[in-house]
Amino acid sequence: MKIMVTGGAGFIGSAVVRHLIHDKGLCVVNVDKLTYAGNLDSLATVANHPHYAFEQVDVVDRDRITALLAQYRPDAIMHLAAESHVDRSIDGPGAFIQTNIVGTYALLEAVRGYWNELTDERKNAFRFHHISTDEVYGDLHGTDDLFTETTPYAPSSPYSASKAASDHLVRAWQRTYGLPTLITNCSNNYGPFHFPEKLIPHMILNALHGKPLPVYGDGQQVRDWLYVEDHARALVEVVTRGKIGETG
Ligand SMILES: NC(=O)c1ccc[n+]([C@@H]2O[C@H](COP(=O)([O-])OP(=O)(O)OC[C@H]3O[C@@H](n4cnc5c(N)ncnc54)[C@H](O)[C@@H]3O)[C@@H](O)[C@H]2O)c1
Repeated sequence: MKIMVTGGAGFIGSAVVRHLIHDKGLCVVNVDKLTYAGNLDSLATVANHPHYAFEQVDVVDRDRITALLAQYRPDAIMHLAAESHVDRSIDGPGAFIQTNIVGTYALLEAVRGYWNELTDERKNAFRFHHISTDEVYGDLHGTDDLFTETTPYAPSSPYSASKAASDHLVRAWQRTYGLPTLITNCSNNYGPFHFPEKLIPHMILNALHGKPLPVYGDGQQVRDWLYVEDHARALVEVVTRGKIGETG
């Protein structure tokens, strides 16, 4: 099985790529634009592996994506490429609209063209897995509150609004064109190769350097944390065994 992973040089994407190659023995083509968030050091253990290929391409570039699909002929897409930092989306939302919405649209259209031409057997087995965020559901109130798959969408930042838009595009491509899609909406991840400006590495690095530990407001905020390598294993379970059209 060959999987095209978009955003595979990012924090979660690189954990997925390492897991697919080291633990699952699958083939990966990693399509990543290498923005500030892309880190090829996180892929050092797979870089020379015969099952691994890297292509520095922007998902917005539909023609390049179409060419890569024709070249590599993947059995599934795991779409993680995104602008992912909430604070940056408040300072400059344009890149979030471009990559998260326009990029997902371009990718869906390229994949739809490729998928339509597959044999019936490969068409039925094909999956498009969109990796999204629980931030599309808005805010929780207290520790007993939970999001479920049926919680109404209520995004509040430019980041979460752009991810909500991309979720709706993916659902529409499944309902309208029959593209076999899956969506997962995870909580905050932590673990190896986490970008240093995110909360947990930021706090650890400040503590190590004897700097203040900045806490917003009254410090009563609650966050749900998911270990990135557990998440990578779960995502691969979803793309290989998930039910088409479902959200998790
Ligand atoms: N990190 C989290 O806690 C978290 C939580 C929920 C959901 N998510 C979602 O998971 C996915 C991965 O998150 P992450 O933390 O690994 O993100 P990240 O910012 O660490 O990595 C994103 C990757 O995408 C690449 N990229 C950005 N724009 C691109 C473009 N136009 N074309 C191709 N590549 C591009 C970057 O170079 C980078 O390698 C995102 O879709 C994000 O919304 C992340």
